[in-house]
Formats: sequence, C-alpha cells, structure tokens
Amino acid sequence: MIQVSPSVLSADFANLGRDIEMLNRSEADYIHIDVMDGVFVPNISFGFPVMKAISKIAAKPLDVHLMITDPARYVNEVKDCGSEIMTVHIEACTHLHRVVQQIKQAGMKAGVSLNPATPVSLLADIITDIDLVLLMSVNPGFGGQKFITNTIKKLRETRALIEATGSSALIEIDGGVNLATGAQLAEAGADILVAGNFVFSADNPEDTIASLRRL
Ligand code: DX5
Ligand code: ZN
Repeated sequence: MIQVSPSVLSADFANLGRDIEMLNRSEADYIHIDVMDGVFVPNISFGFPVMKAISKIAAKPLDVHLMITDPARYVNEVKDCGSEIMTVHIEACTHLHRVVQQIKQAGMKAGVSLNPATPVSLLADIITDIDLVLLMSVNPGFGGQKFITNTIKKLRETRALIEATGSSALIEIDGGVNLATGAQLAEAGADILVAGNFVFSADNPEDTIASLRRL
C-alpha cells in the first residue's frame, strides 16, 4: 500500500490545530512539513516555533522537508521538534555526506531531495547512506503547481539505482500529486506521496487521503 504524507503548507494557518486534528484522524502515514527560507526558494513558509506547536498535537510522524540553504545548521532544532524524517536538498548542501551523518546521529531518518532539473545520477555515492529520496515533481516554493511528467522517468531511475545498490531508501514524490498523477507514480514504484493542495482543497480531505492510499 502506498503511503501518504499530506503537506500542511496548504492547511488553513488560522485553524492549524483543527487541520492537524483532521490529519490525526485520517489514514495519513506522516505529516509533511515544508520549511522555506526565502533564499533557497522564493517563498517563506514557517519555522521552528510553528513546527514545535504542530509536534505537540501531531499523532503522526513528522516528515520535515527543508527548502533552505545550508540545512546542516539546524539539525538539532529539527530534532527538537520531534521530527522522524529530516530531508535536505542536494542543491543546498556543499557537504552532503556530513549532513546525512549528522541527521542520523541525531536519531532521525535522513532524506535527500532533488529539484526537477537535478539528475538522479548525483545520488550514486549517497544512496546507500540515506533512508529516503524525495523527488520534487514541481519547482519547490509553492503548493498547487502542475506535476512535471519527467518525474516518472526519474522515479524509475531512482528505483533502478536502489535495486542495483541494495539501498533501503524509500522514494517520496512531492508536488502536483492528485489521483491521476498519483496512479502513475504508484505504478512506477513510489513509496510515499506528498499531497498539499489536493488534500486541503478537497470537500472531504480525510476521504481524499484514503483514496490516495488505495492507489
Ligand atoms: C512545494 C512543497 C510541497 C507542496 C506540495 O515546494 O515542497 O510539499 O506543499 O504541494 P501540492 O501538493 O499542492 O503540489
Ligand atoms: Zn515538500
């Protein structure tokens, strides 16, 4: 069964507690937290005080996606927010291997994310060290964008790399996920689907999460 990680970027921030309670009741496997710094991506979302508040009421593991430059600076803060997965961008880390080790030493699962134009081949020498590959299927920074179809090819390449190396990394896809793109991703071997706009703009977000899980 495919796992689902709804992104709170599309939640109603004026009613964040209510929306987290909805995710707690739902079949969601994780809660996806998008942190943006206005430098690595053009948008600013929220930071650690908000994450801490979420972690106090969240009943699902936090799947934290840092769209920030030099994320190694914040390993301890992310850990202190009770995060299960800390994902950093390969484009934002000069010393990726070191950052991955720091994340794991802090007791979290280490994820590495690739922007749409970043080739999967760059994962070759880190794939056996990491717990998760996060393929961006939109350019990061905003919810509600259109799915970039080249992601399907990159997903197949990532699956082949994992099989060839014996890595146990999961593959997560982020951006433009709905039932149509989700079905293609499930077929191509995705493990986890992130969905923001599709879940939170639905009339019934809980049912929408359940439908994604059954793809
Ligand atoms: C984009 C974020 C995504 C985003 C996905 O920069 O990383 O997690 O919230 O949003 P949707 O599902 O709306 O494309
Ligand atoms: Zn994300």
